[in-house]
Amino acid sequence: MSTATSISNTKLPAPIPATQTRFRAPKKNIPQTKRERDELLAHIREYNARVAPVAPMPLDELEVHARKILEDTDTPDLYLHYTAVLLNNEMWSETLASIPYERRLLLMPKCLRVEDKCPAPFDEFGLLCKQCGLCTIEDFQKEAERLGYAVLVAEGSAVVMSLIQTGKIEAIVGISCLPVLERTFPYVEAAAIPSVAVPLLQDDCINTTVDIDWVWDIIHLTSEDNTRRLNLNELQSDVRDWFTHEALEEVMGKADGVAEEIARDWLVGGGKRWRPFLSVAAFEALREDRGQELPAGLRHIAVAVECFHKASLIHDDIQDGDALRYGNPTLHEKHGVAVAINVGDLLIGEGYRLLAESGADDTLKAEMVQVAGQGQRQLCRGQGDELNWSLNPGPLNHKQVLEIHRYKTSPAFEVALKLGAAYADRLSGVGEVIENYSENLGIAYQIRDDMDDVSDDSFVGSEESFRPNVLLALAREKSNGDDKDVMNALWNGELAPESFDYSKIRDIAHLSGADERCLTLLEMYKEAAVRSLVDLDNENLKGLLRRVLGKIFNELEIKGWCREYEVKHGVREAEDAVTA
Ligand code: IPE
Ligand code: MG
Repeated sequence: MSTATSISNTKLPAPIPATQTRFRAPKKNIPQTKRERDELLAHIREYNARVAPVAPMPLDELEVHARKILEDTDTPDLYLHYTAVLLNNEMWSETLASIPYERRLLLMPKCLRVEDKCPAPFDEFGLLCKQCGLCTIEDFQKEAERLGYAVLVAEGSAVVMSLIQTGKIEAIVGISCLPVLERTFPYVEAAAIPSVAVPLLQDDCINTTVDIDWVWDIIHLTSEDNTRRLNLNELQSDVRDWFTHEALEEVMGKADGVAEEIARDWLVGGGKRWRPFLSVAAFEALREDRGQELPAGLRHIAVAVECFHKASLIHDDIQDGDALRYGNPTLHEKHGVAVAINVGDLLIGEGYRLLAESGADDTLKAEMVQVAGQGQRQLCRGQGDELNWSLNPGPLNHKQVLEIHRYKTSPAFEVALKLGAAYADRLSGVGEVIENYSENLGIAYQIRDDMDDVSDDSFVGSEESFRPNVLLALAREKSNGDDKDVMNALWNGELAPESFDYSKIRDIAHLSGADERCLTLLEMYKEAAVRSLVDLDNENLKGLLRRVLGKIFNELEIKGWCREYEVKHGVREAEDAVTA
């Protein structure tokens, strides 16, 4: 049976959730990109830590501090109000974290609903959400209520003030546009109620958007989560430092002979180090003794994870006939296929050796070997499907491609997280959530990789190197006429690489709407990763995995709220496919 057939018969994933991307430019007085907003937030945090202003603080005083931050960092005056709101958040966040969820109020604006379809009535307290599934007010409400929050979908200070007066509410988390925040601020300040606000990115009262990662972080802000102060940037840079020749030698010993030297160079040579970072993050979240130095053996685990990953890249480059990685010749280009296979084998062995030498007790070692072996097996199965397809290539639809991605990309993330958890002796109880999370993270990651491949011409370097790619599958499915002929020829291997017109393919992907659909799929899988955390009782791991996701995908953060968009654009296919 050919792989294409077996793939098309495979069961599709569990339904993918609703929340959708909508790229809407933020209002002018808000930094336009996620990156700029993050940078400004980092400045504000630094200022707050250094100057330690104390809340509650009247608006004019708050603005004096905000102005200072803008001046110090050469940030446009335009962002004064936004900066003031964020500084106020920072001043209150420790206090908020210490207040139990049951004593907090989540306040959301009704402009998040689908205005003309929302079935919810209003009472004197605001909108009574019917949980119709049209917008994601429901999602936030559910999550917040699950934690114990009181939730209101309402505007205006009167309702809020009356709630405060009941004495049941000790803190407010608000989502609101800047003008409304400004209007309500004096009341909240006067009541000295700890309040943290996420500004909507627009203030036109309809189809507003907000940074969902940020809302999630704030809703879950709790001193129960010991990792919330963990600086992920620092952790990431520490992990990166473990991959120099000297640092590797400390963990692995001196490289002995040519094969080991090539393997070390390859380990040092490049890569984003996400997988070892995930191991360390999972360990940090689950360890009992936070605040202590990282145990020496954890480095063994992290390096082992990277060894497994880097071995898979060597073998993958051979299998795909790729000539370049990290902008440099691949290992087999440089040393020949035979040497490269051998170095890959060596690295797999090194991974197991490091697990064994990690200092963990025997039971944990056995658990880790099982996790690594199982991951390797899954990865080879996924890779095997793809390779089997390439023996007998032909067009695949995007669902079939996603199915390959599920098996070939997700296991490495799963292994990384599970090994970190196992090393902390806390794998049991979190394994299943890690599996779901990794599956969705892996698919999202690979979708992004597919999009990158198309944008930088690396999807068909040589005759054999064309491989299943979600964006190119969508472009074939969605194009017509001559364009469809081109896409079919590409998938059938009938386009000669030397006369290959990359920009033509990119135009087709763009004009057919495949680009946009692909981005939507990416967001859906990211969102599914977030939702996979819902059942996790461990606040540390939950918070950390949520933040990690924001980090890995940090350039695509602005998301819309309304399922209206999704319905309009017909992106329910994944769900439909499951029920079909
Ligand atoms: C490469 O992974 C293989 C994919 C799953 C896309 P990365 O792009 O994360 O590789 P490194 O870690 O940076 O080398
Ligand atoms: Mg491959």
